[in-house]
Amino acid sequence: MRALVCREFGPPETLKVEIVADPVAGPGQVLVAIEAACVNFTDVLSTGGRSQLARDFPMIPGVEAAGTVLALGEGTTGFALGDRVLCQLMCGGFAELVAVDSDAVARIPNAMTMDDAAAFYIAAFTTWHALVTRARLTEGESLLVLGAGGGAGLAAVQMGRALGARVVAAASSESKLALARDAGADATLLYARGQLDLAAQKGLALQLLESAASRRRVTIGTINAVRDAAGFDVIYDGVGGSYAEPAIRALAWEGRYLSVGFAAGMPKVALGPLLFKNASLYGIQPSEPELRLPGRTPAALRQLFAWYEQGLLHPIITERYDLAQAGAALRRLLDREAEGRIIVTMR
Ligand SMILES: NC(=O)c1ccc[n+]([C@@H]2O[C@H](COP(=O)([O-])OP(=O)(O)OC[C@H]3O[C@@H](n4cnc5c(N)ncnc54)[C@H](OP(=O)(O)O)[C@@H]3O)[C@@H](O)[C@H]2O)c1
Repeated sequence: MRALVCREFGPPETLKVEIVADPVAGPGQVLVAIEAACVNFTDVLSTGGRSQLARDFPMIPGVEAAGTVLALGEGTTGFALGDRVLCQLMCGGFAELVAVDSDAVARIPNAMTMDDAAAFYIAAFTTWHALVTRARLTEGESLLVLGAGGGAGLAAVQMGRALGARVVAAASSESKLALARDAGADATLLYARGQLDLAAQKGLALQLLESAASRRRVTIGTINAVRDAAGFDVIYDGVGGSYAEPAIRALAWEGRYLSVGFAAGMPKVALGPLLFKNASLYGIQPSEPELRLPGRTPAALRQLFAWYEQGLLHPIITERYDLAQAGAALRRLLDREAEGRIIVTMR
């Protein structure tokens, strides 16, 4: 089969399409003929040597894909040849075939296109884990999404709306904000690109606070000023870097800050705003198989697919590349140019 192969850590240009041996479905596995795979930021991290997860070389990147079931391994149940499925992978998505444990595979609704299926689960499930399981975002609360024009960011905008929150989308370009508005954001905020110095961070914190809806007055105790201040109930941050601290300063009383990723670098933040606002910080790491694999999360998957069918949660795909050009697709994310989701097609 053809596959994109990473033989050593390096920029996307070092990835090459090679002919490699076809994988075979082992016991409990499913062999999937991949039609489309999604480019995730983690592909940039893993091929660039910045991932915390260990990888062996040669490695085929790609952590989510969709296609049809071509063969079943010994003892595999629950699937039939020809089933249309999505898969969540540790690697192997940028290839024509993948052999994967059956609990990492889920049948997709008839209405779901293969491209949407390839780009659906990681953003949707990570965001479910963040907003529903961890932050318990409820109707009427306010949600700030940083990096709102990216793949996970747009899922957070859509899911925030589906859960009844007031959503403020923040991103580094007007076109990313336009996508977030189309996805349902109630308000948008443009921030600067690059490393923010202290003055820029303070300026951003103020802007964020101004964009948050003001809260009702509470008149008990000595912390009224803090309680009365504007701020976000929940902040979804897949950006990190020098954007994290301004965001944390924009939390509301009892706000929940969700550390989803570090596209702009690993942040080092002051904890003062958390203490003064009775606020919480959550790391978002659905890495346990019980938590992240589609075959082990049936209740969440039912809700996510229902939202898809209702048009409330769907990947916004802006670019498609052939497998031969997959490195160029990764380059778009590395250069911060990607908007919504980028798909690599094997068709
Ligand atoms: N915890 C988990 O399990 C989990 C799962 C999925 C994703 N993630 C994380 O969530 C984030 C989003 O992932 P994604 O796949 O949706 O990627 P993506 O579409 O590329 O989104 C990343 C966003 O980060 C922002 N960004 C800021 N500085 C950047 C830089 N130097 N280079 C590239 N982007 C930069 C960009 O928005 P602006 O230009 O608007 O700032 C971009 O839209 C990543 O940090 C990823 O690692 C975590």
